[in-house]
Amino acid sequence: MLEVTSLPAAPHMRYGSNSGQALTRRDGVLKVTGQARYAADNHPEGLLHAVTATSTISRGRVIRLDVEAAKAHPGVVEVITPASRPPLMADPDWKGHLFAFRTEALQNDQVRYANQPIALVVAETLESATEGAALLAPQYETEPARTGLDLERFAPEAVGVGSPPGAAVGDVEAALGASARRIEASFDTAAQYHNAMEPHGLVAAWDGDRLTIDMPNQAPVMAGAAFARYFGIPPENVLIRTPFVGGGFGSKAILNGPQILCILAARMLNRPVKLVLSRGQMYGPVGHRGQTRQTLRLGLADDGQLTALAHHAVAATSSFDEFIEPAAAVSELVYASPAISTSHEAVRNDIGTPGPMRAPGAASGSIALEVAIDEAAEACDMDPLEFRLKNYAEAEPISGKPYSSKALRECYAEAARSFGWSGRPLAPRQMRDEAGLLVGWGMGTAVFHCPMFAAEACAVLRSDGTGLVETCGIDMGQGAWTALAQIAADGLGLDIDQVEFRSGSSDLPDGGIAGGSGHTATAGMAIDMAGADAIARLADIATADPASPLYGSGNAGVVAREGRLHRRDDETRSESYADILARAGVAQVEGTGRGGRDPAAAQDHALQAHGAVFAEVKVDPDLGQVRATRLVGAFAAGRIINPRLALSQLHGGMIWGVSFALHEAAVVDRRTGRVMNADLGEYHLPVNADVPSVEALLVPEQDPYVNELGIKGVGEIGITGSAGAVANAVWHATGIRVRRFPVRIEDLM
Ligand code: MOS
Repeated sequence: MLEVTSLPAAPHMRYGSNSGQALTRRDGVLKVTGQARYAADNHPEGLLHAVTATSTISRGRVIRLDVEAAKAHPGVVEVITPASRPPLMADPDWKGHLFAFRTEALQNDQVRYANQPIALVVAETLESATEGAALLAPQYETEPARTGLDLERFAPEAVGVGSPPGAAVGDVEAALGASARRIEASFDTAAQYHNAMEPHGLVAAWDGDRLTIDMPNQAPVMAGAAFARYFGIPPENVLIRTPFVGGGFGSKAILNGPQILCILAARMLNRPVKLVLSRGQMYGPVGHRGQTRQTLRLGLADDGQLTALAHHAVAATSSFDEFIEPAAAVSELVYASPAISTSHEAVRNDIGTPGPMRAPGAASGSIALEVAIDEAAEACDMDPLEFRLKNYAEAEPISGKPYSSKALRECYAEAARSFGWSGRPLAPRQMRDEAGLLVGWGMGTAVFHCPMFAAEACAVLRSDGTGLVETCGIDMGQGAWTALAQIAADGLGLDIDQVEFRSGSSDLPDGGIAGGSGHTATAGMAIDMAGADAIARLADIATADPASPLYGSGNAGVVAREGRLHRRDDETRSESYADILARAGVAQVEGTGRGGRDPAAAQDHALQAHGAVFAEVKVDPDLGQVRATRLVGAFAAGRIINPRLALSQLHGGMIWGVSFALHEAAVVDRRTGRVMNADLGEYHLPVNADVPSVEALLVPEQDPYVNELGIKGVGEIGITGSAGAVANAVWHATGIRVRRFPVRIEDLM
């Protein structure tokens, strides 16, 4: 199932060959043997346990809490309510920048969504705190819950984050009017929750005005600065240790109210406090993927050429903040059309604010776009692959920019060949297996942009010839600590076993955000540059020393490899790092580096990763039961640092695509606004039996523009394309076009 493609080292990798190796995760053994210590595994001396009491209504006011009963419970140390909460130095409803999420830290008695924290109970044991919270017996003044995308009742409006005003090229309405054929279809996608295996939790401890937090987090340095604002301390007084992280998917990138309350309790009581949300409590205050309704309108010429593409998305957001799923934006990226428009609106519900969730926007938008494209191919009597090739974007559709690289044609060809697509009948309902199940084949195009953030790193060459590289990178299971260590070793011209790689603590140089599929590129670039800087300092020493065989060759005249500097003009003349440092009497040399996007790269080129996914489903014609039986995806994402880990990311993404199309939905009780399946028993996720065969292929792609390392990122692209491929396969099996996801049995009966 795991096909590992080893890629040649790209010429712009300066030193080594650790990159490109399919190494296993360096933290893997610790995880599978239970030695890995997650944040909530910490039990410092004097630890107290905090439990949030959470609202059972989704809109209204808390009018009574039985604080006395909770306080009287054995073991309970403190009960914090809006009436008793000590002041914070910043307002949890502060919206100083677009990505500051409003949150609830008991600032008032308002309830804005179900599962909102309404009190915090702190006790000597977890049991006491849990029992104390239950004794609060809240009473509410309840208002009717606003739920769902009921456009008759709730007028959509334009709001902020994730709601770019949209983009346009050409005159879409005129082009639609003049087109030979038109497709118009509306799609519904369900709210989804991140459901990381490791719950959100933290252990907070104060020492005077210094704060130490053990916490899974995708952006620890940023989080530290945010916490510092709430507690009126300098950011450098906050230490966040982000050890092993059991999944984040975006939800651990955003600061939340329970974290603030836990830190507040620790300061109030002057003891370390641990707070871990229960599985159910994560359906509210820590983000989710918002529900969408998307309308696509496509204009077509007789020969199957797209003449117009309009994508409008309405997405749910909370009553008090702005993030919406930017679903329509994907239509700016994939198919060529002389006229394109994308637009977004929001509907306000009594829900926790949605947030970024793996492939934000692109996952929801891509399933709608890919199904609409499939409908267009059907209307033109064209094979879906032929249709996509006919409408292949040679330049980025709206901006007209050339791609920095785009091996999508190769992805289509590779995946189609491996899947066996060429035998596919055009009409639906033509294939059955030996058991009589309907068999269908569908495809989708995968796409994701390649953002970079900002990161720093430092690299040290020591007198014994080994190296040390530091950056606060975040490994939430994707293998960052392995891939970044590979880049670190290459940067220093050493083998990976000779380099100590330190990460996961905010007192190290800022490794940036683990998100947007940009962590390897961003932190990797900082690490690579830090290594180059350290090597340059070493070369300064060697080339200025008459006793060195490198004397006089200048920095540009040496190359670092396998722990030695070599003369470029005569590679037989070389000297080991250890010898250079020893003769100079220097204990170590240090280099620093920064990662981030060169603005010119994004100005001159469209920067995207691409892929093609083909899916087979089988549908029981009597029962309507659907199973995805086979997925093949081929992806081109620039330089691949570690093929094993990259494929693992792609497999995970593709499985999420199956989940998006067939399984996942948070079901809201419209009477109360509560999610009814707020646990892993009722919230459907694919298990092994739901995904029998998933194959990912890596298509080699060298990108000289995207960044110095040529890395595009693979964290999110796997979902895009895959969900649409599965949905299209369902149509091909049954002839029924389902436009509401996940596809349910009743949709096929
Ligand atoms: Mo992500 S949704 O880029 O953590």
